[in-house]
Amino acid sequence: MEIKFGDLSREYQQIHGEIDEAIGRVLSRGWFVLGDELKKFEDGFARYLGIQHCVGVANGTEAIALALKACGVGLHDEVLTVSHTATPTVSAISMIGAKPVFVDIDPKTMLMDVGQVERSLTSKTRAVVPVHLYGQCVDMDPLLEISKRHHLFVVEDCAQATGATYQERPAGTMGHLGAFSFYPCKNLGCYGDGGAITTGDTNLADRLRMLRNYGQRKRYHNEIVGYNSRLDEIQAAVLNVKLHYLDLWNERRRQIAKRYNEGLAHLVLETPAEAEGNRHVYHLYAIRVKSRDGLQKYLREKGVETLIHYRVPVHLQQAYAELEYPKGCFPITESVAREVLSLPLYVQLGNEEVQYVISTLKSYQG
Ligand SMILES: Cc1ncc(COP(=O)(O)O)c(C=O)c1O
Repeated sequence: MEIKFGDLSREYQQIHGEIDEAIGRVLSRGWFVLGDELKKFEDGFARYLGIQHCVGVANGTEAIALALKACGVGLHDEVLTVSHTATPTVSAISMIGAKPVFVDIDPKTMLMDVGQVERSLTSKTRAVVPVHLYGQCVDMDPLLEISKRHHLFVVEDCAQATGATYQERPAGTMGHLGAFSFYPCKNLGCYGDGGAITTGDTNLADRLRMLRNYGQRKRYHNEIVGYNSRLDEIQAAVLNVKLHYLDLWNERRRQIAKRYNEGLAHLVLETPAEAEGNRHVYHLYAIRVKSRDGLQKYLREKGVETLIHYRVPVHLQQAYAELEYPKGCFPITESVAREVLSLPLYVQLGNEEVQYVISTLKSYQG
């Protein structure tokens, strides 16, 4: 059996009628940027999350950058986040001229260790970017409490956690702002690049609408220095179709994760831990295993494609050498980077395929 890590063509097969109709509608209308589809998506997504505002932007990286920018974060400010994340979380902080500062992660959830936040604050810290990695929320209540006490902005990186909840509250509704990516493979993905920012703060939303559109509220009148970062009509039309499937598809992801959890329970590896009060939506199913590279090779030989999220922590990437974090400074992050392995998990993956992955893992003698 050949099992790909992801296969979006299977998703398209399932919903191609609706998608073709939605894209055709945009093409016939002849209006491609900042139109009815975007408005419909922003309203629908805000309603889905139960928050006042959603502002569509070009991608998840710019969602984080513009969210920070809207809060007034910029040059010489420090922004706290984790090194165990997709590099774009950190690029977004650098993009606006701020300095990323890292904290280590919790070994069980592989998410920000909130207990380390307070000791990493300086007089320059202006914001925190908790990353709801793999589809599970960071322990937000203590983080919100610390942030409030130190007057920090909280921008949730929800790129991998659309539809996840923490104590019944959806990712993207807890901090000052939530930043989403709709990159195709995400739990809610479009068919190109896309992103959005959510907030309950009308002033921030107003500023974001200007920031994404050349700094203007009224055409050709630029109130602030802005960008071009808009979610286009074709992508918004795709998202309008797929938003209806989000809960159903997240439930299917959870079912597959349950099968993996049960099937792999007695092996010498760690299956992902869902923290109490969390609804994990398994954007990625990341196991930890000591013999990671050997196991990955074995699985590849048996036709099972896996990926590593992420092999090199951001603080050890060449691009961030100037931050001067020495090797070994985030021990949990670095050991997770050596051991983590993502198994195939997507909505259209069949139960027999999941079973094949489980049996193959069981047959590994490494
Ligand atoms: C955790 C995280 N943050 C940010 C991003 C950036 O999103 P995008 O690729 O849409 O710019 C991604 C996606 O790659 C991500 O996984």
